Amino acid sequence: MSEALLEVKNLKKYFHLKKDQTVKSVDDISFYIRKGETFGLVGESGSGKSTLGKTIVGLQAPSSGSILYNNQDFGKLDSKKRKIANKEMQIIFQDPHASLNPRMRVGDIIAEGIDAFKLAKGAERQNRIYELLEKVGLNPTHAKRYPHEFSGGQRQRIGIARALAVQPKFIVADEPISALDVSIQAQVINLLDDLKTQEGLTYLFIAHDLGMVKHISDRIGVMYLGKMMELSDSHELFVHPLHPYTQALLSAIPVANPKAVKRERIVLGGDPPSPVNPPQGCRFSTRCPHAMEICSQASPEWKEVQPNHWTACHLYN
Ligand SMILES: Nc1ncnc2c1ncn2[C@@H]1O[C@H](COP(=O)(O)OP(=O)(O)O)[C@@H](O)[C@H]1O
Ligand code: SF4
Ligand SMILES: [Mg+2]
Repeated sequence: MSEALLEVKNLKKYFHLKKDQTVKSVDDISFYIRKGETFGLVGESGSGKSTLGKTIVGLQAPSSGSILYNNQDFGKLDSKKRKIANKEMQIIFQDPHASLNPRMRVGDIIAEGIDAFKLAKGAERQNRIYELLEKVGLNPTHAKRYPHEFSGGQRQRIGIARALAVQPKFIVADEPISALDVSIQAQVINLLDDLKTQEGLTYLFIAHDLGMVKHISDRIGVMYLGKMMELSDSHELFVHPLHPYTQALLSAIPVANPKAVKRERIVLGGDPPSPVNPPQGCRFSTRCPHAMEICSQASPEWKEVQPNHWTACHLYN
């Protein structure tokens, strides 16, 4: 697939807990991300989104399966090529408070990647820091300060500058605005959107609700308990959702004019089950309003039901 910047094939990431328990955080997921697109990834808390993002950028080794970057199998790269790939893939974390070292000056935080990859030193390094601060809407004088002197939104801008410092091609943005005040969320989204064009980036944008990724994503994937449930063009997903879980998520998004849109809210019973003991067959079968006998017996196949529209559900098998 030449148009794919990143391709994930049968990716699994399991965590082994005590007493022979295993969390199947990412369980046999296959999809690709096109060069230059914003791929939105949604799902409730605990569905495995962060695990997938961290495994893709190489912060965690996969349990099995493969990750192809620019058609090269990440697991088979020699150390030099892997280093280049690592530099090109960066991650922005959800919590700008926890991800910045409180004892480091902002300039040094931003330069972490520059130093690690020996990209610049002395005056050139300093100028790069100033440029990056300006690029994310901060001031060069901020380089001397410490993270606690900044607001949540500014700290997230510092995190973005740190990711950009190594001139990445692919960025995983893991719920980058969830911890921020609603009033500044849009500013950070707009910044990420502008940077995407300026820097020619590709994004995996993780969020826990569909409403947030709707306007910025070209395509969207929906996860539930370690599995991908549905994937399609963003507009298509909102107009023709196939999977009952996606339908439920969509029905929960508040609409601006409820009288104009007839959308009945689908209320799901209970919380998501534990990923340590996920339901047999379809993982959504314990909460699905359309569940049939087969649903608790066999896993539905991940299938391209319509062109460029995948889902895993027995209603379409
Ligand atoms: N390092 C780890 N050790 C054990 N379990 C983990 C670890 N990281 C994640 N998990 C588990 O994997 C599941 C998915 O977590 P996560 O990827 O953080 O979900 P999300 O980002 O969608 O909220 C959760 O049940 C979580 O407890
Ligand atoms: S496979 Fe069955 S339980 Fe799962 S989403 Fe489809 S209809 Fe519902
Ligand atoms: Mg997460």
